[in-house]
Amino acid sequence: MFSRAVRPTVSFARCLSTSSQNNAKVAVLGASGGIGQPLSLLLKNSPLVSHLSLYDIAHTPGVAADLSHIETRAQVTGHMGPDQLDAALQGCDVVVIPAGVPRKPGMTRDDLFNTNATIVATLADACARNCPEAMICIIANPVNSTIPITAEVMKKHGVYNPNRVFGVTTLDIVRANTFVAELKVLLKPSHPCMCCWNRFTESSCCKDS
Ligand SMILES: NC(=O)c1ccc[n+]([C@@H]2O[C@H](COP(=O)([O-])OP(=O)(O)OC[C@H]3O[C@@H](n4cnc5c(N)ncnc54)[C@H](O)[C@@H]3O)[C@@H](O)[C@H]2O)c1
Repeated sequence: MFSRAVRPTVSFARCLSTSSQNNAKVAVLGASGGIGQPLSLLLKNSPLVSHLSLYDIAHTPGVAADLSHIETRAQVTGHMGPDQLDAALQGCDVVVIPAGVPRKPGMTRDDLFNTNATIVATLADACARNCPEAMICIIANPVNSTIPITAEVMKKHGVYNPNRVFGVTTLDIVRANTFVAELKVLLKPSHPCMCCWNRFTESSCCKDS
């Protein structure tokens, strides 16, 4: 999974860049979690990032120390707890937010919303105060609710720019690509079978995260 990440290339850099900027300060809020840690590893390997600022309510010093030992250019700083949130965000060009709880068995999307809405609103408020020009990428689910929450918080501060708030749906895209690829192999013209389509529509893509 990380084979491309550990060999950063110019083309990889171009994929992420819409300008010549290659000294971005990027913050990951929720950096110690299941998404936050591998995401921070990927970012540490990007030649476009000069400063990687890791924030979480737990474990950030250890995560930051581990990543700082990788011999790539990004300087890594760790920030833990609300007292250090402002410092984590000052001067950021990009903020990625995987902070929150993932859905567990028995939880509904509403349950997820109740917890993550408050977390995302608090973090968006800190972004509006400390780095109002930053691009904000929301991973915390439910994305179709956490994005409007972020937009409203930014509007409250008078700094909302619709071109700078993003919902991250990469997981859905790669899952769909994988399932379609599987179907292309499974669906042979000599044996048309609806079970393949059933498998696609009943897949786990809508049942977790
Ligand atoms: N958009 C997508 O495609 C996608 C894909 C996977 C997961 N997700 C979502 O991402 C979120 C995180 O998933 P995960 O598997 O990493 O969960 P996780 O529980 O492993 O990690 C969440 C992290 O957030 C931190 N956190 C909690 N409250 C915080 C706060 N107030 N400030 C800062 N950090 C805080 C926790 O300490 C933890 O380290 C979930 O909401 C999940 O549904 C979205």
